[in-house]
Amino acid sequence: MAHTQLPHMEAQLATLRAMVEERLRASLERGADCPGRLRDAMAYSLFGGGKQLRSLLVLMACEACGGDVEAALPAACAIEMVHTYSLIHDDLPAMDDDSLRRGRDACHIKFGEDIAILAGDGLLTEAFALIASKQDSGDANNTIIIIRELAEAAGVKGMIAGQIEDIYSTGKKLKLEDLKEMHILKTGRLIIAAARLGVLISGAGTAALEAITGYAYNIGLAFQVTDDILDVVGDTGEMGKNQGSDAKLNKPTFPEILGIDKSRDYARELVERAKGALVNGDIAKTESLRNLADFIITRRG
Ligand code: IPE
Ligand code: IPE
Ligand code: MG
Ligand code: MG
Ligand code: MG
Repeated sequence: MAHTQLPHMEAQLATLRAMVEERLRASLERGADCPGRLRDAMAYSLFGGGKQLRSLLVLMACEACGGDVEAALPAACAIEMVHTYSLIHDDLPAMDDDSLRRGRDACHIKFGEDIAILAGDGLLTEAFALIASKQDSGDANNTIIIIRELAEAAGVKGMIAGQIEDIYSTGKKLKLEDLKEMHILKTGRLIIAAARLGVLISGAGTAALEAITGYAYNIGLAFQVTDDILDVVGDTGEMGKNQGSDAKLNKPTFPEILGIDKSRDYARELVERAKGALVNGDIAKTESLRNLADFIITRRG
């Protein structure tokens, strides 16, 4: 799957992606005695060529605040597992019924619905085992804070609340404010958690945490607005998922309410707000986070 990247970000992102992938492979090996077909389905989805945005954000936020990227790796891997589980379940026939993901058959097409459901469950559970594993945990109190942050973002007041809102709103016209709320929940919350985990692991203080939370709130919303735009104007090959899925399912989206041009303006405005939020955080290096914000709305997949 092709990714649009700003040229100077390319090398940095490739290095961070490789670090995450290596750690993910090692952590899947730890569960090597689980049934082979389940492990194959988990690995198939995890290593299917995703952008790894959320895991990169954990590492970049940690680095921006002067933290050790290596220490942030377990949390980065965990969030990638949670995100991948959410995609496996999102594609199921009972949800969005999508057959293509990351340029390949969706997990349930390749392995069957039963295995796909369990692969999702497995990834979700393993994510928390990974963060909690003693070997990687460092300071136990901070580990509990991190687990709670991720659980709340992914859970019934976060991503799951957004997904259920998405189901309830299918076929309905939503007010812009309600659509925004749904997008913050279903996509924004995990992106906000990714950024906050990076700061928490870095040990930076409240000013940095607040600044990066504001940044992530805005890029999280911009991310889903762009996802909606790409669903209309994107290319199936570049996205690695079927273009037109939202319209087919009659989902409320930003382009449907605002039109494409105003949706693009809105996404740009959110990115500027995100960059603005970084200014007061006393953060050592903000350049990579600023570049990542640009990437979120210029990407083609
Ligand atoms: C897709 O997320 C699902 C949304 C929340 C919009 P990504 O576009 O980050 O998917 P991958 O991980 O790169 O495949
Ligand atoms: C997915 O939103 C959000 C989650 C998986 C939590 P979408 O349904 O818009 O994601 P895509 O377009 O299928 O990747
Ligand atoms: Mg969906
Ligand atoms: Mg979907
Ligand atoms: Mg979508």
